[in-house]
Amino acid sequence: MAENNFDVVFIGAGPGGYTGAIRAAQLGMKVAIVEKYKTLGGTCLNVGCIPSKALLDSSEHFEAANHELEAHGVKVSGVSLDLNRMMERKSKIVKDLTSGVDFLMKKNKIERFLGYGKITTPNEVEIKAEDGATMKLAAKNIVIATGSVVAELPFMKVDKINVISSTQALSLETVPKHLVVVGGGVIGLELGSVWKRLGAKVTVIEFADRIASMMDSQMTTVLTRSLKKQGMEFVLKAKVTGYKAEKKGKETEITVTYEDMTKNTTVDIKCDKILLAVGRKPFSEGLGLEELGIEKDKRGFIQVNDHYQTKHPNIFAIGDVIPGPMLAHKSEEEGVAVAEILAGQAGHVNYNTVPSVIYTWPELASVGLSEEQVKEKGTEYKVGTFPFTANARAKAIGMTDGLVKVIADKATDKVLGVHIVGPRASDVLAEAVIAMEFSASAEDIARTFHGHPTLSEVMREAALNVDKMARQG
Ligand code: FAD
Ligand code: NAI
Repeated sequence: MAENNFDVVFIGAGPGGYTGAIRAAQLGMKVAIVEKYKTLGGTCLNVGCIPSKALLDSSEHFEAANHELEAHGVKVSGVSLDLNRMMERKSKIVKDLTSGVDFLMKKNKIERFLGYGKITTPNEVEIKAEDGATMKLAAKNIVIATGSVVAELPFMKVDKINVISSTQALSLETVPKHLVVVGGGVIGLELGSVWKRLGAKVTVIEFADRIASMMDSQMTTVLTRSLKKQGMEFVLKAKVTGYKAEKKGKETEITVTYEDMTKNTTVDIKCDKILLAVGRKPFSEGLGLEELGIEKDKRGFIQVNDHYQTKHPNIFAIGDVIPGPMLAHKSEEEGVAVAEILAGQAGHVNYNTVPSVIYTWPELASVGLSEEQVKEKGTEYKVGTFPFTANARAKAIGMTDGLVKVIADKATDKVLGVHIVGPRASDVLAEAVIAMEFSASAEDIARTFHGHPTLSEVMREAALNVDKMARQG
């Protein structure tokens, strides 16, 4: 089995697995990657980041054609939706990108194995193919990168027809009349926006007292206002407790029940589809972890040390399957870090600067601490804000909804957090991430050239405003 001897075997070919595999190959290791699905790229490329962004962009065009182009003096008539074509476009983007990962595996001489991976001993991975055939790989090191799956509620399971998850919400064949979204987190807001723009009535039911409750509260207030203007409806402080589906002729009428925790009442709401978006959970079933004594926490996350090692020093875990934000770029960075650690390098990930983005329109992008978190830590701080309404480029493109907020340490001026609601906030945020990586002060951002007129000038103005020195607006 000499040809099946590897320096490292990655189990799972999502952003964590395939990025780590590439870095390990670049560092001269003999690398294998095991994936149960025929296409590589994991959740992100197949049923996550990429198809959702493709549909967000397409639905934004539909919205613009219907409601926004006229203001630019562009007259359009007879606008209609070809959902089939929109889905084909999305699928083609997914296919191109997943094939791209295949190409990268070949280019980097990474051996790819199709089948379900199980760790049978600390140095052996068994692969079971769809037809039941098994084979074994010998591995000096093993990296578990098996990702996450949709979390369900005990009384609400995904049946793919009445109750759908993000995966089905990315491939619906018709626009629902009324989509009830359970959970006002990232998926609920992004995919709720898609179907709202394509014509559905969308009601988001959220347990917390605000949507996107993990973000800075001032920013979620701005985002909520904007999404409400677009027609999204929100029921907050409401706990979904059950649902029933009844056939009414050809149609199915669904009743969702929730507890209104403000009024202490039980409320029923009717719809024709439920999108369940109450989070995701780590996936490590069938890997053989129990037999190996590899520990998981209460929520099922694999326990690792600072070097991503499990209790077996040559078995590592990265990405969604370990604690931390469930984000593609976090998995990627950990993949690179683990490969570098295997090569004897430092392999460091700076968890203080993980950007987080909700790709609604406007987008909400954030890095570092929220104002609530800074307060909780007891740090003395100062805040500079700047609205997109006062930004020349935002005015020119006609997208002025939004706000930038820079939070800096009161004594040292070091940037602690940056939060943006606005057009292409995800791209504007990039400079804040770099600034924080280099431990910049608000003044460093304020004194850095920003091209004019660009959306990025909002960052400089907000940074100037930390000391109340904005020049525009
Ligand atoms: P995954 O991508 O989940 O990959 C794990 C892989 O392991 C899968 O391919 C799985 O089939 C395979 N596998 C599991 N067990 C085995 C086994 N035993 N043997 C063989 N193979 C196995 N993140 C962002 O940063 N930006 C976004 O815009 C974004 N949008 C998202 C939109 C949606 C709708 C969803 C659901 C998620 C989104 N995410 C986004 C989150 C992102 O997809 C995940 O954080 C990321 O994919 C995690 O990468 P991973 O490599 O850890 O795991
Ligand atoms: P989430 O954790 O973002 O949001 C879930 C929401 O559901 C929470 O606000 C929670 O309070 C609410 N909730 C839970 N139980 C409820 C109940 N019974 N009734 C009403 N509300 C309830 O999870 P989501 O949106 O499913 O996304 C999963 C993960 O996928 C995210 O954490 C994120 O890491 C990743 N993702 C990232 C994206 C991005 O980076 N743009 C896009 C989509 C997903």
